[in-house]
Amino acid sequence: MLTLHPAERPLSGTIRIPGDKSISHRSIILGAIAKGDTEVTGFLESADSRATISAFEKMGVRIEGSLDKHARPHLRVHGKGLYGLSQPSSAIDALNSGTTARLLAGLLSAQAFTSSITGDESLRRRPMKRVITPLTQMGAQIETLARPDCLPMRIHGARLTGIDYTSPQASAQVKSALLLAGLYADTPTVIREPFLSRNHSEIMLRSFGADVTGDIEAIDAYDTPDVFAGAVITLRPGTQLKAQEVYVPGDISSAAFFIAAALLLEGSEILLKNVGVNPSRAGFLKVLSRMGADIEAVEVYEESAEPCADLLVRHAPLSIPGDMLIVGGEDIPTLIDELPMLAILSAFVEGTCVIKDAQELKVKESDRIRIVVDNLRAMGADVTETEDGMIIRGGAPLHGAQIKTHGDHRIAMGFAIASLAVSGETIIDDAECINVSYPGFFRDLSKIA
Ligand code: S3P
Repeated sequence: MLTLHPAERPLSGTIRIPGDKSISHRSIILGAIAKGDTEVTGFLESADSRATISAFEKMGVRIEGSLDKHARPHLRVHGKGLYGLSQPSSAIDALNSGTTARLLAGLLSAQAFTSSITGDESLRRRPMKRVITPLTQMGAQIETLARPDCLPMRIHGARLTGIDYTSPQASAQVKSALLLAGLYADTPTVIREPFLSRNHSEIMLRSFGADVTGDIEAIDAYDTPDVFAGAVITLRPGTQLKAQEVYVPGDISSAAFFIAAALLLEGSEILLKNVGVNPSRAGFLKVLSRMGADIEAVEVYEESAEPCADLLVRHAPLSIPGDMLIVGGEDIPTLIDELPMLAILSAFVEGTCVIKDAQELKVKESDRIRIVVDNLRAMGADVTETEDGMIIRGGAPLHGAQIKTHGDHRIAMGFAIASLAVSGETIIDDAECINVSYPGFFRDLSKIA
């Protein structure tokens, strides 16, 4: 339990945002199955990314380096090549990490051994059918051991064949599971998504030498077209992956909390260094600019083919254009993990914010629609839950409340930020869960508070 109080002054100062979680996972996975040693700089130290490290250590991969107390933690992954993993002696525990579980489901489907994956209580409730169905079409042999379509599952390595798969969801976890399985298939794998989901796997696979083509080039630049509809990606198997140097940019999903805080607290001005601004992830910035936010990319550069920027965020009064802001469709995959923070932020802004097409939020680390709505209501906000999102009529004065996180890190951090801008005391029931993605969150917040 943690008690928080409203901020007494504007935020000011500089924070270096810790490494991107999605890219950190991928650096270990690809490093492990590449030939040679992959050097990873800026790896995220967190419970989720450690789950991926432990999984590969269990499969005989040596991973050296220290994650503690460095501004940019450095790891060396001694790659085993595509066929060098060994059978884990017990179940791989993905803990709370959906990315670890789903990406490994793809990779393990093609190995010459049987393995199993489990996770914590939250992860064991999350749907795995979305990967089991297409992987089975490729020839994978996957058994679920408790509830149907959920972890734990046992995977019997099998020979795989490429498929042409149209995914019902824009999900990078599904896409990446199929790409990893596709590396071992005997024919190409094609994945079609309703909208482009984060494309870190494609970018990194290509830099490791895989033959990946499709909608990668279109989104290489920071200023890209708005529409990412109907993305198609093709992977042709047959190339060995070669070890690389990977620089992991800061996680925009972590930066989002401080961006929101600076926008909420009058007089604030903060600099967030080294934020990944890949357009398939940067929807939060786009929506905020529609609300009049003042966020300047003062330096734009690339790290390991991923666009990055230093972001200068100054407080400016936010408003909802025409009193109604609709966030949906192709916006959703580009800000899926920032939706709790966006919903909380819009509760402070006069006007109506409608979040739609976001049913995926129900199957994240918690049911993020219901839990955001319940906690915002507890703070006095006018919010309605809908089938695929929520409607927030912002501008009512908000007060501190007892926040129920349901063990969800992004709920804990989002409402910790809200606590700075409401009246009275806020109590967060479980602040430990923040370690899943951002163990240094409160330390970094105190640097600018
Ligand atoms: C992730 C993809 C997203 C995201 C998750 C990380 C990834 O999930 O919400 O936090 O690293 O591939 P979905 O692919 O299920 O949308």
